[in-house]
Amino acid sequence: MHLPSSLVLLAASLSMGMDAGKGKGNGKNCKGLDVLAKKAGLKYFGSATDSPGQRERAGYEEVYPQYDQIMWESGEFSQTTPTNGQKWLFVEPTRGVFNYTEGDIVTSLAKKHGMYLRCHALVWHSQLAPWVEETTWTADELRQVIVDHVTKVAGYWKGQCYAWDVVNEALNEDGTYRESVFYNVLGEEYIKLAFETAAKVDPKAKLYYNDYNLEWPSAKTEGAQRIVKMLQDEGIKVDGVGLQAHLVAESHPTLDQHIDAIKGFADLGVEVALTELDIRLTVPANASNLAMQKEAYKNVVGACVQVDGCIGVTLWDFYDPFSWVPYVFNTEGAALLWFEDFSKHPAYDGVVEALTNKTSKGKGKGKGKGAKRATLWNA
Ligand code: XIL
Repeated sequence: MHLPSSLVLLAASLSMGMDAGKGKGNGKNCKGLDVLAKKAGLKYFGSATDSPGQRERAGYEEVYPQYDQIMWESGEFSQTTPTNGQKWLFVEPTRGVFNYTEGDIVTSLAKKHGMYLRCHALVWHSQLAPWVEETTWTADELRQVIVDHVTKVAGYWKGQCYAWDVVNEALNEDGTYRESVFYNVLGEEYIKLAFETAAKVDPKAKLYYNDYNLEWPSAKTEGAQRIVKMLQDEGIKVDGVGLQAHLVAESHPTLDQHIDAIKGFADLGVEVALTELDIRLTVPANASNLAMQKEAYKNVVGACVQVDGCIGVTLWDFYDPFSWVPYVFNTEGAALLWFEDFSKHPAYDGVVEALTNKTSKGKGKGKGKGAKRATLWNA
């Protein structure tokens, strides 16, 4: 515990009281993150969320009401992404057998609460149904598998998704293509096919390439730019690049590094979003690593606010116990903005500072295509 428990309880009850009954973030006095984000020129500030009973949520049923109040009612968020339910493993577990039950739980809550929905993810090597990887495909067969999957899944949620992550994590760290079953059989053609098909099926959804470690300039960001250009050169619809933003508190990029990376994509004429933001630290949390985390959140959200074309921020859930981080990174955790007792991380204030012009100005401001919102920033 990082604070005396009496203080934590007080903070938690104060924040619940303040947030209660403010609807969807449009209340006059509401200071939820989404309200601040919209004032700063973003489309949304959101949080991914999962369906009850999925791994990270098991055993936490008694806190669901408090969690749900923040997720859906508090004005903190106006966008969500289903953490798991739309992935191949869930929606097409057997060839030609489609099941939308898990995905529908979060997508229908998004609809009920009038939130933007980012849909995630059509073609990805991970959480793939085993039958896709276990079969030895001819190129024609695998093309058909991709077309069928994208047609059915994007078709099912047609008109509901602000954006689709069409292809997820196609790149290695050096910018070369990951050797997934899709790449091994079809080469980069699979990316074109997935985007082409999604564009036909749901023409209004923004089609994104989504990946991690794209938040500072590197060979991998160049690889992602190459994918965008390839699609554009072929006349295939591509609307955005998702920077997952799974970052590390103790070794985080600077504001200017983030700005450069975001501009690198925005200058290609596509929009950018932070799609899976979390910033993990080596547990236990203490004053020092929480301060680094605050700075890291402030930098990345600040860069999104400062660069034209960065349209929104999605946390990869907001409540520490529901984070994927401790399951995947052994000694790390506390990556989100709300602790287990529902008190807020110092990083919450870092995000508020970034959204309210209290962050330092990076080189995004006042320069080139990447600079807008000057009026807001000067206000
Ligand atoms: C994670 C989920 O949060 C976990 O619940 C699941 O067990 C594994 O996947 N990149 C992505 C996300 O695009 O879909 C991943 O989500 C995290 C990394």
